[in-house]
Amino acid sequence: MKNQETAQAPEARVHWSSRWGFFLVTVGSAVGLGNLWKFPYMTGSNGGSAFVLVYLFCILLIGVPLLMAETLLGRRGQASPVGTMRLLVAEAGASKAWLAIGYIGIMGSFLILSFYSVVAGWVLEYTWQAAGGFAPAPKEAFGQAFSDLLANPGRLIFWHTLFMAMTAAVVLGGVTSGIERANRIMMPRLFLILLFLTGYGAFAADLPAAFRFLFHFDAAAINRSVLFAAMGHAFFTLSLGMGAIITYGSYLDRATSIPRICLQVAVADTLVALLAGLSIFAVVFAQGLEPAAGPGLLLQTLPLAFSQMPGGQVVGFLFFVLVVFAAWTSSISLLEPSVTLVVERFGLGRQVAVLLVTLGIWLLGVAVALSFNAWSGVTLFGLGFFDLLDTLTSKIMMPLAGLLIAVFTAWVMQRRHVADEIGLSGRSFSFWYRVVAFVSPVAIAIIFLNVIGILG
Ligand code: PFF
Repeated sequence: MKNQETAQAPEARVHWSSRWGFFLVTVGSAVGLGNLWKFPYMTGSNGGSAFVLVYLFCILLIGVPLLMAETLLGRRGQASPVGTMRLLVAEAGASKAWLAIGYIGIMGSFLILSFYSVVAGWVLEYTWQAAGGFAPAPKEAFGQAFSDLLANPGRLIFWHTLFMAMTAAVVLGGVTSGIERANRIMMPRLFLILLFLTGYGAFAADLPAAFRFLFHFDAAAINRSVLFAAMGHAFFTLSLGMGAIITYGSYLDRATSIPRICLQVAVADTLVALLAGLSIFAVVFAQGLEPAAGPGLLLQTLPLAFSQMPGGQVVGFLFFVLVVFAAWTSSISLLEPSVTLVVERFGLGRQVAVLLVTLGIWLLGVAVALSFNAWSGVTLFGLGFFDLLDTLTSKIMMPLAGLLIAVFTAWVMQRRHVADEIGLSGRSFSFWYRVVAFVSPVAIAIIFLNVIGILG
C-alpha cells in the first residue's frame, strides 16, 4: 500500500478507505488550535455572542460553499494542489496564472505549519505540566510561567521539534495507513473528551453563565472589527485556501457526495468550537476569572482555573490532550500538501519528501521560536516574525486564495464540469453556484480590501 502511494500518476492515486475516512480526516484538519485556542479567545475579546452569531453566519454563507468548491477541485484534479490546478487549467483552456491557487496553497500551508507547530509546542509543554497537576498559585504566577516559557528558546525549540517529529511520523505512514489511521484513532477520542468536559462544565462549573456569554443576543455589539474577525476566522477554522482541502479532496473517490459531507464537516467543526467555548467559559466563570484574556486564555487563565477546581488535575490533563489531538490532526493536513507536491514534481519517495519538507518547516519554526526571545527586536512592517507569518497567511493569503478559488470554480471552469463533479442539480445547484459566483467573491473582496487598508 505504502509503495503505491508514492506513485502519483493520477489514475494510481490512493483513496481514503471510505466516506467516513474522508469525513474524519477533514474534520481532523478543520478542528484544531483555531477551535480550541483562537475561537474562545476571539469570542472573549470580541464581545461574546455578537462574534459567535456573525461567525456562524460566515461559516454558512462563505465557508461551506467554499469548502465544497475546494473539495471539488481536488477530487477532479486527483493530484497535489499545483498538479490539480495544472489539470483544471488545461481542461478549462484558462491562463496558467490560475496555478497561483496551487502555489499559494502550498506556500500557505508551509508557512502556517511553521508557527502552528511552535504554538502546538506550548500546548505539549502545558500537557506535560497538567499531567502533574498545576500547583495553586496567585494569578500573576501563571502569567509569569507563560512569559518564562516564551523567553526560553531552548524549551520552545525542544517542544516544536517534538511536535514536528510527531506530525512527520504520521505523514510518513502514507495516506491511508498513516493519515487516515491517525485520524481514526484521535478524532473519536477528541469528541469523547469534549463531551466529558462539557458534562463537567454542566455539573461542576458554571455552564449557564457560559451559555449566556456565548448566545445572549446583542445586536449593538456587532461592529466592523467583529465582522472582519469572524470572517477571517471562518476561513481559518475550515482550513480554507491553504491546499489542505484540495489535497484531501484529491484522495476522495467519485462515489462520495461532496455537498453532504462538506456540510457535515462544517457542522462538526462548529459544534466542537461551541462545545469547547462552553466548557472553557464554564470553568472560567465558575472561578470568577476574566473571559476577555486574549491569547493567554488557554495557557494562563485555564491552568489557573484548573489549579483551583475539584478534580482539576484530571480535567486539566484531559483538556490539554484534547488540544494536542486537535493540533496534531490539523498539522498533518498542513504537511501533506507540500509532501504530495514534492513527490509528484521530483519523483521522490514519500519518506524522502517528508524528511525534506519537515526540515524546511522546522527551520522556519526555529526562527519563529526565536522571535519570542533572542530575535524579538527584529520586526518587519512593525510586526515580529510570528505576527508577520500569522498576518500574511490568515489575513492575506487565505482570503486571496479563497477569492481565486471561488472565481475559478464559478467563472473559469465549465459549468457542466462543475455540475458533474459537485453532484447537485436543479435549484440546489443554482443556489450554491450563485453563492460561489457572487456572494463569496464579494464578501471576501470586502474583507480583503479592508485588511489591506483601502476601506479601513
Ligand atoms: N483549521 C485549523 C484550525 O482551526 O486550527 C487550522 C488550519 C489547518 C488552517 C489546515 C489551514 C489549513 F490548511
